[in-house]
Amino acid sequence: MWYLRAAALLCLSWPATAACPPPQRQPRCPCYDFDGGLFVDCNTVNASEVGGALAQVHGPVKSLRVYELEPTLRELPAGFLGNGTVRELQISQSGLQRLSELSLAGGGAVLQSVALVRGKLSSVPRAALAGLPQLVKLDLEHNEIRLLESYDFHGLKLVSLDLKSNGIETVSEYAFAGLEETLVSLNAAKNQLTLFPLSALAPAKSTHHTEPRLESHRQDGTRRLQQV
Ligand SMILES: *[C@@H]1O[C@H](CO)[C@@H](O)[C@H](O)[C@H]1NC(C)=O
Ligand SMILES: *[C@@H]1O[C@H](CO)[C@@H](O)[C@H](O)[C@H]1NC(C)=O
Repeated sequence: MWYLRAAALLCLSWPATAACPPPQRQPRCPCYDFDGGLFVDCNTVNASEVGGALAQVHGPVKSLRVYELEPTLRELPAGFLGNGTVRELQISQSGLQRLSELSLAGGGAVLQSVALVRGKLSSVPRAALAGLPQLVKLDLEHNEIRLLESYDFHGLKLVSLDLKSNGIETVSEYAFAGLEETLVSLNAAKNQLTLFPLSALAPAKSTHHTEPRLESHRQDGTRRLQQV
């Protein structure tokens, strides 16, 4: 049969240098090589399966997406990414309330984008994020963060921050301190804020900074900050 021969040829011709392992090795975390970038998409897995899948990928991973991480897992464990290098991480649909301080250590050092969406985070996981010098995009949409504390994002160079749909009731005075120079886009829609405290976005000490020009798009609750 031609198609069997074709399949056999395909197997034989599997390039020895392929960075993705053969699909049967990780059926719930398929890996794709697309345009020179590696994409790993895990579905309905536990944390050790994600680690096991990453360990089989040879080369840096451009994007790791995890859908439906085991619902009973409350804390993302230390070394979640193992030694794998991951540039963009998305975990959606989980029971995560917090992240171990070392959960993104190691392979996460090159993370540029982190999305922890549709989980149960009760605060900004600042300790885990603190070790990510390249992080520019943070998405915490649809969690259970009620309070933004002062210096929650300090030390990060975020350009884009999404806090939509958390039920945020309180924004501390210096909640966004440290982001004055970098933040361009902030989405705080669908929270419990009757009035967004714009002073929280202003530089803590504005004497040496140019004031960011604030543009509000009240219709959808998205606010954009532009440096002028
Ligand atoms: C993770 O899932 C795999 C496959 O279902 C299972 O064999 C393993 O025991 C699970 N590990 C943990 C820590 O739950
Ligand atoms: C990561 O690398 C270290 C040092 O090379 C090694 O000892 C450790 O076992 C590795 N961890 C995993 C999960 O592969």
